[in-house]
Amino acid sequence: MQVQKILLFGKGGQVGWELQRSLAPLGEVVAVDFDSTDFCGDFTNLAGLAETVRQVKPSIIVNAAAHTAVDKAESEPDLARTINALAPGAIAAEAQKLGAWLVHYSTDYVFDGSGSQAWKESDTPAPLSVYGQTKLEGEQAVAANCAKHLIFRTSWVYAARGGNFAKTMLRLAKERDSLSVIDDQIGAPTGADLLADITALALQRVQTQPDLAGLYHLVASGATSWHGYAALVIEHVRNAGIDLKTAKNAIHKIATQAYPTPARRPLNSKLDTLKLQTAFNLYLPPWQQGVARMLTEIL
Ligand SMILES: NC(=O)c1ccc[n+]([C@@H]2O[C@H](COP(=O)([O-])OP(=O)(O)OC[C@H]3O[C@@H](n4cnc5c(N)ncnc54)[C@H](OP(=O)(O)O)[C@@H]3O)[C@@H](O)[C@H]2O)c1
Repeated sequence: MQVQKILLFGKGGQVGWELQRSLAPLGEVVAVDFDSTDFCGDFTNLAGLAETVRQVKPSIIVNAAAHTAVDKAESEPDLARTINALAPGAIAAEAQKLGAWLVHYSTDYVFDGSGSQAWKESDTPAPLSVYGQTKLEGEQAVAANCAKHLIFRTSWVYAARGGNFAKTMLRLAKERDSLSVIDDQIGAPTGADLLADITALALQRVQTQPDLAGLYHLVASGATSWHGYAALVIEHVRNAGIDLKTAKNAIHKIATQAYPTPARRPLNSKLDTLKLQTAFNLYLPPWQQGVARMLTEIL
């Protein structure tokens, strides 16, 4: 039996870390990061990335690296474009030469957040931020340069490892009498573990069904606001017996306008996942389930 090689970029990020686990049963994983020494994993070094693909000769490449600092991207658009668009494009061109599969992740921020319907893959993107714009360019570069691609748009990603919104709310609820949390941005908190597991399942399927290549929306099911997310986190933590300063009725709802940030964010971030569920025959669990599991892990 021939063992396939899988090249994973961005191994240290939320999704990259979970992919190291979920991809392991599929083949030999060569995982690299910004500061890897064996192979270049620096997304500002396009020639180095291409050389890495040529040296490793993988049959699968998964790109979990990105410039994800949404507000910072507004003041460093060239760097964001290099990491989010030019580098994935360069990797895609090399993947195409090898006949390799390329998995890439994108975001709800490619949409302008208008309306209240969940966004479909066929809807027209209109990013509001540099991050969203460069991620859209990255999707386009991957799709244009590598036929065997899977692009997963996701939203509100969290993981037990590293910092996340839930951990910030937990810290603030221990320190403050009250919290004010945005209530007019709607989306689905999605676990990095779920993204990694579905990536591995989808990669197995496309080996025998290459016509499944394409763009898919991939988020946990259901939707909430940041306020709803915070309220669930705080309730879970309180039920676990942890002392919090913030009272149950002291989590206040605020509008996005009351919390100005350098980057504009979409109000409606809901993504319709019917295409993915149907094509891959997969079930996407409710967002509350994964968040509760993550909280149990970190408490
Ligand atoms: N996080 C979200 O809420 C969210 C939402 C929608 C879509 N997505 C997408 O999901 C994917 C995975 O995101 P994530 O949440 O796992 O993000 P993350 O935790 O921020 O991971 C991104 C990784 O990319 C690395 N990176 C940054 N600059 C780099 C460079 N120049 N060269 C090489 N690596 C570099 C980061 O390293 P450092 O940590 O050292 O900078 C980090 O390890 C991304 O494509 C992202 O756009 C994320």
